Amino acid sequence: MKCSKLQLLCCPNCQGALSPGDERSDGTLDDGELFCSHCERSFLIRNGIPHFISLQELEGLNRRFAQFYERFSRFEAIFDKLSFLSMGGERKARTEILRRLELSGGRVLEVSIGSGRNLPYLFESPKAGEIYGLDISAAQLTRCRKCVKTRRWPVDLFLGMAEALPFKTDSFDNVFHIGGINFFSEKKKAIDEMIRVARPGSKIVIADESERVAQLISRFLRLSRSNLGRKVDASVPVHLVPDAMEEVCADGIWKRHGQYHGYCLEFRKPA
Ligand SMILES: C[S@@+](CC[C@H](N)C(=O)[O-])C[C@H]1O[C@@H](n2cnc3c(N)ncnc32)[C@H](O)[C@@H]1O
Repeated sequence: MKCSKLQLLCCPNCQGALSPGDERSDGTLDDGELFCSHCERSFLIRNGIPHFISLQELEGLNRRFAQFYERFSRFEAIFDKLSFLSMGGERKARTEILRRLELSGGRVLEVSIGSGRNLPYLFESPKAGEIYGLDISAAQLTRCRKCVKTRRWPVDLFLGMAEALPFKTDSFDNVFHIGGINFFSEKKKAIDEMIRVARPGSKIVIADESERVAQLISRFLRLSRSNLGRKVDASVPVHLVPDAMEEVCADGIWKRHGQYHGYCLEFRKPA
């Protein structure tokens, strides 16, 4: 991670300023620590990835998913290819969402970047800009980092929770999320955080499986049991978008046999 990226970061707990421990002479921070001057917490940096959470402190579905991806990460690519096959393929499925971004060469944040499967499509655009990716799973980020290093893409990665983003307010020209929010522990908090870090006037794009598909996944993974006995609510989270947001629109995506298998929710943060 370049030290210059520190200007974007803040403590995910109290939003205090972060300062680095050791800085290398070439201006990079690959291993070390970040300190919050306000709440005095410190966060490790490993292989250039700041760690803003640890598995032990996660709760509910967040803990379950972070653990799940430790094992599932290696199979995700093949799983995605097979799942999207009947919907016209992975490229079609992903670009159906990504084309809604208003790329302008600025900073783009993907919340829950996973192993980076949207990156090839983002970098097809000359206006992709700088990409920032956050995920709750260290295994997913390790996989993503390998891919980014091989292709020398300008991507910075962060281990953290969507519900408490380690970024300063109004930092990103585009914020998007694909494929995780149905099972987040606190969806409202995650949406509020995406709005907080987005630049005023910018668009926020959120997509996931339809409620029917999510309930099938939830039954398959027996998720309701890990969510304190509550049934997983996988409805389109349009009711969680604050009234102040503009151009709110939710529509069906990933059509197969006349049925939508996903939704895309988009809205604009007022300028
Ligand atoms: C189905 S994958 C999607 C990955 C990527 N966005 C894509 O389109 O391929 C869902 C991702 O959400 C991440 N995730 C789950 N809960 C999260 C949370 N609370 N905060 C951040 N990421 C989370 C998982 O680790 C996983 O990488």
